[in-house]
Amino acid sequence: MKEDTDIRKDFPILNQEINGKPLIYLDNAATTQKPKVVIDRLSDFLSKENANIHRGVHYLSMNATTLYDEARSCVANFINAENDDEIIFVRGATEAINLVARSFCNEKLEPDDEILITEMEHHANIVPWQLIAGEHGARVVPAPITDEGEMDLDQFESLLNERTKLLAFVHASNALGTINPAKKMVEIAHRKGIPVLIDGAQAVAHQEVNVQDLECDFYVFSSHKIFGPDGLGVLYGRKELLNKMTPYQGGGDMIETVSFDGTTFRPSPERFEAGTPNISGAIGLKAAIDYINDIGWETIHEKESLLMNHANESLGKIPSIKLIGTAENKVPVLSFTIDSAHPHDIATILDTKGIAVRAGHHCAQPLMKRLGLSATTRASLSFYNKVDEINQLTEALKEISALFES
Ligand code: ALA
Repeated sequence: MKEDTDIRKDFPILNQEINGKPLIYLDNAATTQKPKVVIDRLSDFLSKENANIHRGVHYLSMNATTLYDEARSCVANFINAENDDEIIFVRGATEAINLVARSFCNEKLEPDDEILITEMEHHANIVPWQLIAGEHGARVVPAPITDEGEMDLDQFESLLNERTKLLAFVHASNALGTINPAKKMVEIAHRKGIPVLIDGAQAVAHQEVNVQDLECDFYVFSSHKIFGPDGLGVLYGRKELLNKMTPYQGGGDMIETVSFDGTTFRPSPERFEAGTPNISGAIGLKAAIDYINDIGWETIHEKESLLMNHANESLGKIPSIKLIGTAENKVPVLSFTIDSAHPHDIATILDTKGIAVRAGHHCAQPLMKRLGLSATTRASLSFYNKVDEINQLTEALKEISALFES
């Protein structure tokens, strides 16, 4: 098992001062930091191996093609997809959801049809559905959550009906940390013959994902939230669904034949990867996944639960702090409010102490409305954080509480 000090050394960005104080990076739900192996891999690829893929017969192009294909294979193994062809590289989780909305739902939706989501979705898993539903006279229906931020499974089940054409829900909430009972939710939907998309943007960095075990039809996530480069995302889809879907972007590399009379398309994944993809991004993501596998889920879980337990206990002792999202099963996200202090002011004061957190509605305005809030402050952790950093956050929050009480 890697020692804490070695893990910290893997992330060069953590070793710096911000506003004259050592950086305490607690904004991992927004984006994760990159280990040196990812930075070096990108630098090596761009300095020595860069070329376009699927096009050239020259050495560099063939080598880049092999590396890109290996990255796809690595992602397939990482989430236990049955087949490499079920992995499509896109720009991010958001683009993956838009792709499913355009290419899967477009042909399915009729007036009065429904897409079921939940009240805890990120805007990325609301707006694409609203856009496509609006074009067809269909609607997006939110399944309710409890005050603790958990799914109300009875109500959820009762909302799945013959008009529901897709269930789309978040695996782990970016604003609350709640981990949804994904396997169970898929099973309930499938019993009624309803296909399911899972937004895994926040889950993949914290738990092993097994798409075959979940039995979901689509699963999406972003590379930058699991220690890889930004501008790259993954859409997993079951092969038999993907090959029936009409591509929503056309261009080079996704075709079988093109004539002025019409075009035929290649099967997945090329079918959905028009144009030159983010080749270096995919290769960087492979380096990130190799790094996660090297650290191991056991170590990640051990470290994150130690940090989370400590943070819950420490913050729980500050009377003016209210934790938002107290689900039993959570990724290490701590959303909170402090009586009479605006979340943005809290985050700004924390920044003067070198502590990076996010404040706002976290791209989840309907969730905030449901909870009767306009915003929260959010500290989101990763396995590279330290107990001492939680102690410093706690001390800073005590000072802020006292400041706003007086
Ligand atoms: N979805 C990201 C977050 O929660 C950007 O911060």
